[in-house]
Amino acid sequence: MKILITYASKSGAARECSLLLQKELSGSTVFDLNHGIPALDDYDMIVIGSGVRMGKLYKPVKNFIRENQEVLLKKQTVYFLCNAYPDTIQKTIKSNFAPELIDSAICIESFGGYTPFSPPKGDPTTGLDVENIKKVAGKIRGF
Ligand SMILES: Cc1cc2nc3c(=O)[nH]c(=O)nc-3n(C[C@H](O)[C@H](O)[C@H](O)COP(=O)(O)O)c2cc1C
Repeated sequence: MKILITYASKSGAARECSLLLQKELSGSTVFDLNHGIPALDDYDMIVIGSGVRMGKLYKPVKNFIRENQEVLLKKQTVYFLCNAYPDTIQKTIKSNFAPELIDSAICIESFGGYTPFSPPKGDPTTGLDVENIKKVAGKIRGF
């Protein structure tokens, strides 16, 4: 199974989570949506990650999902959000994802995030839910 992990990040959390997932998923490809648009045809499983600001996903992710919705509905999909307030995840999911994308996803998870305007200076996994990242990677490997 070919796996694409694609993301947009501003302060680095979604990037770090993408790299942690890649380590767990051998042979997977990581693509930064701020650097272009990946071709989806080559992949069976698409993982899409975004930071959240003011309750919204980042624009490159929103655009990518909107422009590829029909293709995404035919692939295996996993979405992850990096946010500082994981308790608000359900509200964020509801206001950012079309119902059919939610229904067809394997899962949509919060991987935690950095304190606003204060990304960690040392360990880049500070604030991230590394256990959940490993759990989701296990789920993906099971497909
Ligand atoms: C201006 C701003 C607004 C934010 N708004 C939210 C929010 O609405 N909900 C939330 O849970 N976290 C919020 N956060 C925290 C970010 O989601 C968190 O820093 C996350 O790590 C961002 O992902 P990134 O590091 O990949 O850019 C906000 C942070 C900033 C700087």
